[in-house]
Amino acid sequence: MPASPIRRLVPYADRAKARGIKVYHLNIGQPDIETPAEMMNGYRNVKNGYRNVNIRVLSYGPSQGLQDYIDALVQYYGRVGIKVRAQDILVTTGGSEAILFALDAVADTGDEVIVPEPFYTNYSGFAATACVKLVPVTCLAETGFALPPKAEFERAITSRTRAIIYSNPGNPTGAVYTRLELEMLEGLCVEHGLYLIGDEAYREFIYEDDTEHTSVLNLAGIEDRAGQGAGQLLQRSAARIPGPERLSMRRNREDTGGGLPQARGRILRCCQVADSRRRGIRHLHA
Ligand SMILES: Cc1ncc(COP(=O)(O)O)c(C=O)c1O
Repeated sequence: MPASPIRRLVPYADRAKARGIKVYHLNIGQPDIETPAEMMNGYRNVKNGYRNVNIRVLSYGPSQGLQDYIDALVQYYGRVGIKVRAQDILVTTGGSEAILFALDAVADTGDEVIVPEPFYTNYSGFAATACVKLVPVTCLAETGFALPPKAEFERAITSRTRAIIYSNPGNPTGAVYTRLELEMLEGLCVEHGLYLIGDEAYREFIYEDDTEHTSVLNLAGIEDRAGQGAGQLLQRSAARIPGPERLSMRRNREDTGGGLPQARGRILRCCQVADSRRRGIRHLHA
């Protein structure tokens, strides 16, 4: 998968601008015509809208997301005990895109991804888009849809298994997985070289005071192979190859030379992935 030329060129342009060089951006079709007043008025008039916005030309934002937004996310996650840096965040258009990117990053056509079921129905569509086979492991109403024992996951693992994906709290079950359950998944991923994709779209939807939410990003020991998507992809990781960004997984076989770092083993984290063992890439990233 080739790196986005738009994203690749931006760091060079930014560095040149910092040195006072005038840059003509031929890499992106930034408009220079005035945005129609009707449209800007529409923005101003929506409820809770952008009344004070005074933009003459509405142009593209940065591909990686607006810096203010990324900084706000770093602060938000810091407040809930998740330490991430701005460069660990890839802003996406909703959780769906984050999950699609994650699947694309960790798996190739025909690979398998394990998912506790019942699961969010659109995982089927995301998996189909990524040409990945979802392999369900059944959770039972009798146990409050807790994760089944490790042995059941192990039975589902084949030579094509690349990752485990789950939502926590679960849609549609509402189950909130305990730290122990998640550490069981973490252990599986470490033992079998899998990525762990935690979908935490509902992390704030917990209504019992004594129920603690454990984020995939708070599992110690799996920093190089865990990622979370909820409208932003978050990743962390350990070693990285030289490169302007530090995103995670790289699914390509070759170094695209550009933006996203690769990770060792199978990492999840968001956007590009690499598996050093399978694909001969030696280091990665985060
Ligand atoms: C568990 C879960 N993950 C991801 C999504 C997709 O989120 P978005 O609508 O931001 O694409 C949803 C949406 O309902 C969801 O329930």
